Amino acid sequence: MRSFDDYTPFYAVIGDPIAQSMSPDIHNACLNQLGIDAQYEAIQVSEEHLQEQVELLVKSGCKGFNVTIPHKLGIIDYLDEIDPYAKAIGAVNTVEIKEGRLKGYNTDGPGFFQGLSNVYERDLIDADVLVIGAGGAARAIVKTLLMNGVSKVSVVNRTVLKAYGLLEGSKGSAYTFSEIEGNLSIYDIIVNTTPIGMYPEIGNLPLNTDSLQPHTTLIDIIYNPLMTEFLSQGKEKGCVVQNGVPMFVYQAALAFKQWTGLDPDIALMEEIIKKKLGGNPSC
Ligand code: ATR
Repeated sequence: MRSFDDYTPFYAVIGDPIAQSMSPDIHNACLNQLGIDAQYEAIQVSEEHLQEQVELLVKSGCKGFNVTIPHKLGIIDYLDEIDPYAKAIGAVNTVEIKEGRLKGYNTDGPGFFQGLSNVYERDLIDADVLVIGAGGAARAIVKTLLMNGVSKVSVVNRTVLKAYGLLEGSKGSAYTFSEIEGNLSIYDIIVNTTPIGMYPEIGNLPLNTDSLQPHTTLIDIIYNPLMTEFLSQGKEKGCVVQNGVPMFVYQAALAFKQWTGLDPDIALMEEIIKKKLGGNPSC
């Protein structure tokens, strides 16, 4: 991290591991493009050092930071204030620092919702949604859907008890994989939030797609690879598919706007990810 006498404003992302993060690439490109004199850095922070590293960020002039695995819940203990929406989701991925005070936000959920709204052309309120996985990302997505009036949200998870835990206020149900595979045709939207199919294990599928029908929109929040096996099989069946790039760039754009008051260039962010990963980010 920088020294205390370097007062160039900066932003950061903290996590563990962090080396693979593309957040510095997209944020720095947008800061440059808008002529903002600031930098965005990736900082490796282990769970046992979270508190001291957060204190160091404040002392070194950091104006805001993103929070990624494994700190999205743990960071809440070190905030002065939490946005009600992030509180309802129960996780924070964006922190703003003003006059030494830390306020936490969640832009993952709204980032996902923006991406979904771009690709889903029917009325979302009536959609039957199946979310695969019940971890932190699934929680943000399920809560955001429910808070936006999408009430038929079901969850399938290896540990079905965790799936039940996400469904307060939903008209949907919790399922095991064996219960749901074979019945995918009833869903308008299916979202994979598990890491299954992520680089380097790119051949793996989160669930059997035999019963998928073309009317279902598939979203995978993975963006490396840009086209997962899950999306590839859905595309072959005629489904509309969307990878994790839109959620990633929209969550970043919302954080950027929160910190700077300015709208970053979404197309520039997408272009950078496309260059790094090779391929079509909007697959
Ligand atoms: P994140 O915060 O990114 O959502 P997470 O909290 O570790 O990550 O959640 C990952 C999700 O993927 C979990 O729902 C996990 O299932 P369990 O709740 O049963 O642990 C699911 N997951 C991860 N690896 C999996 C695998 N090999 N098979 C099935 N589900 C898996």
